[in-house]
Amino acid sequence: KERKLLLAIESSCDETSVAIIENGDQILSNIVASQVKSHRRFGGVVPEVASRHHVEQITLCIDDALAEAQVEPEELSGVAVTFGPGLVGALLIGISAAKAFAWAHGLPLIPVNHMAGHIYAAAFVQPLTFPLLALLVSGGHTELVYMKESGAFEIIGETRDDAAGEAYDKVGRVLGLSYPSGKEIDELANIGSDTYHFPRAMIKEANYDFSFSGLKSSFINTVHNAEQRNEPLVKEDLAASFQASVIDVLVEKTVRACKEYPVKQLVLAGGVAANQGLRAALSERVLTDLPETTLIVPPLKLCGDNAAMIGAAAFVEAEKEHFANYSLNADPSLSF
Ligand code: KG4
Ligand code: ZN
Repeated sequence: KERKLLLAIESSCDETSVAIIENGDQILSNIVASQVKSHRRFGGVVPEVASRHHVEQITLCIDDALAEAQVEPEELSGVAVTFGPGLVGALLIGISAAKAFAWAHGLPLIPVNHMAGHIYAAAFVQPLTFPLLALLVSGGHTELVYMKESGAFEIIGETRDDAAGEAYDKVGRVLGLSYPSGKEIDELANIGSDTYHFPRAMIKEANYDFSFSGLKSSFINTVHNAEQRNEPLVKEDLAASFQASVIDVLVEKTVRACKEYPVKQLVLAGGVAANQGLRAALSERVLTDLPETTLIVPPLKLCGDNAAMIGAAAFVEAEKEHFANYSLNADPSLSF
């Protein structure tokens, strides 16, 4: 079998990442330089700070990725890069580096949608078969995506306001946790119980859309009211109650979508796919309610932003010869 090697670059938000991927499903290296510590003091990602970090890190990450994979640029067959959605200044650093590298080594440039990348992280677990459904949950997106075939994406439902990860981070701030707080809320939730009974927005509605801003407001009101009345708050129970509400809605609507759309595979993807409660609840429901469906959940390190997933998605694009020229621009609000 011919060995097809891609160098992939991801810089859409606050991780600079470069990976070398073989044949779309083997990771030879996946370097991730995280900037979270720099953004933490601001309680969120500061775009200008993100761009500056990417500039500092990108060439180092490219060198490290090649060295770790023991691959020479001459052995590569393409350069993949995230061109959206994300922060425009951050995306442009990755795109510029990808163009320069592609030009210097005479390689084709493969533009990749960041959200497609999240779905293709599942290709490292097992080969994707179509049609499939993906529940994409990240800091900026929450959507159910139907893929009739490889490379064909249809959003069948999405959040009308906050993304799930965004809700985690906002609620975390109210609890005094540091950014990003998804993981810490997940850990607190694990030891607390659902005593506050927050609403499950849109759970009964006959569509696949979500809403998390009402839940966030309920949470904030509960905390403020308790503080005013000097009533004690149980952090673990607050976290567990919030998380139970998020998981109930995500799982319920996803399972319903799987019943309407005839798919054999369900992919859970995006930063929030790292959530232990969500992973457990979804696999349990799939086992009991969807015996014909295989749930694919990427390993934790492939749930958050990384270039390996971009390389997997790019492999499919390269097979179709979907290449870009040097006029490729960042598309901060790119959708499917
Ligand atoms: O996909 P990602 O790394 O970046 C975006 O493309 O947005 O997702 C980051 C989001 C953050 O909101 C973070 O709080 C959330 O994923 N997250 C989690 C967990 N780990 C990360 N949310 C819930 N539970 C977790 N264990
Ligand atoms: Zn992401």
